[in-house]
Amino acid sequence: MFPAAALLSFSLVAVVYGQAAGTLTTETHPKLTWQKCAAGGSCTTQSASVVLDSNWRWLHSTSGSTNCYTGNTWDSTLCPDAATCTKNCALDGGDYSGTYGITTSGNALTMKFVTNGPYSTNIGSRVYLMATSDSAYEMFKLKQMEFTFDVDVSNLPCGLNGALYFSQMEADGGKAKYPTNKAGAKYGTGYCDAQCPHDIKFINGEANMVDWKPSDNDKNAGSGKYGTCCNEMDVWEANSMGSAYTPHSCKAQGPTRCSGTDCGDDASGERHSGICDKDGCDFNSYRQGDQTFYGKGMTVDSTKKMTVVTQFLTNDNTTSGTLSEIRRVYVQNGKVIANSKTNIPGMKAYDSITTQFCAEQKVAFGDVDDFAAKGGFGPMSQAMTSGMVLVMSIWDDHAANMLWLDSSYPLDKDSSTPGVARGACPTDSGKPTDVETNSPNASVTYSNIKFGPIGSTYK
Ligand SMILES: *[C@@H]1O[C@H](CO)[C@@H](O)[C@H](O)[C@H]1NC(C)=O
Ligand SMILES: *[C@@H]1O[C@H](CO)[C@@H](O)[C@H](O)[C@H]1NC(C)=O
Repeated sequence: MFPAAALLSFSLVAVVYGQAAGTLTTETHPKLTWQKCAAGGSCTTQSASVVLDSNWRWLHSTSGSTNCYTGNTWDSTLCPDAATCTKNCALDGGDYSGTYGITTSGNALTMKFVTNGPYSTNIGSRVYLMATSDSAYEMFKLKQMEFTFDVDVSNLPCGLNGALYFSQMEADGGKAKYPTNKAGAKYGTGYCDAQCPHDIKFINGEANMVDWKPSDNDKNAGSGKYGTCCNEMDVWEANSMGSAYTPHSCKAQGPTRCSGTDCGDDASGERHSGICDKDGCDFNSYRQGDQTFYGKGMTVDSTKKMTVVTQFLTNDNTTSGTLSEIRRVYVQNGKVIANSKTNIPGMKAYDSITTQFCAEQKVAFGDVDDFAAKGGFGPMSQAMTSGMVLVMSIWDDHAANMLWLDSSYPLDKDSSTPGVARGACPTDSGKPTDVETNSPNASVTYSNIKFGPIGSTYK
């Protein structure tokens, strides 16, 4: 995630009409299978499921059905202070398809952008892959491993982001560490990412209502005093017009609640003073100088399903080494397609993310090298040792209209300046009001997830 003010995009308008009965829903995780592969390429099917992030859920009084949170404000009676609020409020189960537009079938997960449910209009969503036990998140240890999935981005226009990534969350959603969190992974708690989002309603088992400010451009979001930071490996952020993969390291391991300067807030002019590398070191083929590689009808054709292979290589080719290179390969129509090569003055012809690639890119693009400042691959390598949670989402961007992914950005620089052009979307595209009105039926489908040693997940 690159944008300035993190994920302000999602939300559920949790309006309950009167004492509507029957809205207390049983939580049933949609089933999703995936494959664990062994060296040599034999794979075994894992019967798992996905869980919706807690932020999207109806939050109501434990004693009944009064909203604790409506639109983008907390109820002052149920929530006079953080501790009381935490005690008074409950996260409810979700109607995945009816309320959130989330459906699964076999090994495929489809996430719809706007869903008009019986009680709400839901915009975007975020889910996590559960372990097969269904009581905790699956933890991925990525070093010297290969992660592969199919994705259909054909129905994702400019301004939308279908993102598949790993965040260094706790396996149980923070339940053991913070006993006031009684919901845990089953209800999708414990999210964190490298943007240190402030819009998370519960952090460390406590309501994040202190200093809560409703967003001035998103009627469903706000931001609290605290942010929640952690290492984030963006394997895939894309729509039909652009794509990128990006490691974002943090100078902390595991979910870390921040306040003040540590959060690296743009609004305070502290983007590069926080504990996480918000910019990351991205590989975006278009931004790297190949404008005909990824897109509609291009070498990797975004109008059709594609297979995305990502390899996390270490310095000594073992799972105990340190992360040193992140490689990308595509497969489409049965053909293996090598990643595009960098074609930027001052840079070698890179086709993967390495320390050298990041250093040269930051210089060539005139960007602050916050990647190096936050430890480069070091913290990410450690995070990959301890295990990371698989996140899949669809979102629009109230902070920067997704221009950092699919258009020219920042707007005050000429698009011919190296690093500014990132995709062919117009610079006036991607406004949430436009995409929510014009493309409510947009969706993304992730399928056929495979994980195993290098070379085991694709042919
Ligand atoms: C790791 O594997 C690569 C590619 O197979 C090879 O070129 C390299 O020499 C290996 N490095 C080590 C330290 O074994
Ligand atoms: C979205 O889909 C619904 C149901 O199929 C349809 O009625 C509506 O017109 C579509 N909206 C747009 C903007 O395409």
